[in-house]
Amino acid sequence: MPKLYIETVGCQMNVLDSELVVAALRKEGYELTSDSAAADTVIFNTCSVREHAEEKIYSALGRLKNAKQSNPEKVIGVIGCMAQNHQRTVFERAPYVDLVVGPGQLHQVPELIRKVQQGSGQQLEVSLGRKDGSRENITRSHESFDPLRDPTMRPTPFQAYVRIQIGCDKFCTYCIVPSVRGPEQSRSPQHILAEARQLADEGCKEITLLGQTVNSYKYTEGETTTRFSDLITSLHDIEGIDRIKFVTNYPKDMTDDLLIAVRDLPKCCKYLHVPAQSGSDAQLKTMRRGYTVAEYREMLARTYEMIPNVAVTSDFIVGFSGETDEDFQMSMDLVRESRFKNSFIFKYSERPGTKGAQHMIDDVPDAVKRARNQEMLALQNEISEEDNQRFLGGKVEVLVEGLSKAAIKKEAELQNANEQITPSPSPSPQGGGEGHGMAPQGQQTQLTGRTMCDRIVVFDGNRRQVGETIDIAIYDANAHTLFGSVVTQHLTPELVTLS
Ligand code: SAH
Ligand code: SF4
Ligand code: F3S
Repeated sequence: MPKLYIETVGCQMNVLDSELVVAALRKEGYELTSDSAAADTVIFNTCSVREHAEEKIYSALGRLKNAKQSNPEKVIGVIGCMAQNHQRTVFERAPYVDLVVGPGQLHQVPELIRKVQQGSGQQLEVSLGRKDGSRENITRSHESFDPLRDPTMRPTPFQAYVRIQIGCDKFCTYCIVPSVRGPEQSRSPQHILAEARQLADEGCKEITLLGQTVNSYKYTEGETTTRFSDLITSLHDIEGIDRIKFVTNYPKDMTDDLLIAVRDLPKCCKYLHVPAQSGSDAQLKTMRRGYTVAEYREMLARTYEMIPNVAVTSDFIVGFSGETDEDFQMSMDLVRESRFKNSFIFKYSERPGTKGAQHMIDDVPDAVKRARNQEMLALQNEISEEDNQRFLGGKVEVLVEGLSKAAIKKEAELQNANEQITPSPSPSPQGGGEGHGMAPQGQQTQLTGRTMCDRIVVFDGNRRQVGETIDIAIYDANAHTLFGSVVTQHLTPELVTLS
């Protein structure tokens, strides 16, 4: 059986794309390996959102050069956003790469690998650029395929991503996504519902709906228009699905009908990722975000008022073109007053081809970007830790996702130690058996899970509980994690459930 090694960076869209590519290649007889040296085909699913993400891929490709020289049969593929962004440049910088495939052309991957193997040389398949034809043709060239799923490639077997929207039309001036993912298009509700039903049949309990501006979802067919709130209401009826999440929200499209749906649908996670990007009107204008800070504040106040205990998270860019100390302090003010559950903070990275790169100067020195990043992160961490304290002494409902990071590390160390004593013939992933250093099924271990408001909870439990929804009593908390113990009725009957 041919062996496939795949490495994925970037956002959840890429995680989903990798799942689909793996599903397609499994149908061709491939099996997955975690060892790139042993693989017949090595694929990197790439991201272009910041320069750092691209450079990491070129370094990883560099490390494969010798392997390719000693085994020319090895197929090396670069897929995803950087493939679309750099196109032939990938071949120029790494001439031993065999295929470059953009995110809108992933259905062609199996065929392209075959062509390489048959001696047809390097293969390039990308979608049309945003100025390379009529909107209809460009849109069609970015259509993705989502029917093939592979449960083993999911974050866990009971959690899955569902794409509801492709591309983006917002064209924020710093952002490469609209050019690499193409025009914004919403998928039909029938297709989305069918996919969610299929996932529920496969044992999936939680679905996360994906879109660059997921709440801008709208699908019109004849006389009927399906809004995002209508879609989540329909998905809510699917038996077996217990939790519905969605990312990422665009602040201007946080309409009341959506907030009401989130509030009233019990399966809908009370967690909203709504990036602000900046707290300065001047910056928001240069970024072309389409709202003012006052409008963002109004949206946030409305969200907190309508959905009790909702967790809101945000993204910020520091050091964008022209950002002064005053602009940055306005972003700090917004972080201080907004009580985000957490914020992802990025140093501006100029992206060739964007309006930001064409018309603005990347004039904030890197040292200043770094200092601002750290200052904002410290403030956000302080707030996150303070807010997590309110869970102390209460209980939360947790969907158990798997072993905690510490438990995974401990298991790997134990396995390594055992392999050094008795080399194991095959590194079998199923674990289990005594004498292999792995915790046997049913043994106590440290587990991790998430609350309905997306808080990470770590606790001692039984690995049989993975995939179950259980109550955890919280006794400690830091900025990122709640720590607790499994609630047993006879011991802790009086705890109050918090969310
Ligand atoms: N569609 C989502 C986010 C896509 S990219 C949205 O609109 O919110 C994820 C995050 O990366 C963005 O929210 C932004 O904070 C950050 N980002 C995008 N382009 C960037 C750039 N050129 N430099 C630094 N951060 C960037
Ligand atoms: Fe990029 Fe803006 Fe679109 Fe988000 S909304 S993907 S930040 S252009
Ligand atoms: Fe990166 Fe593409 Fe996602 S650029 S952030 S992987 S849409």
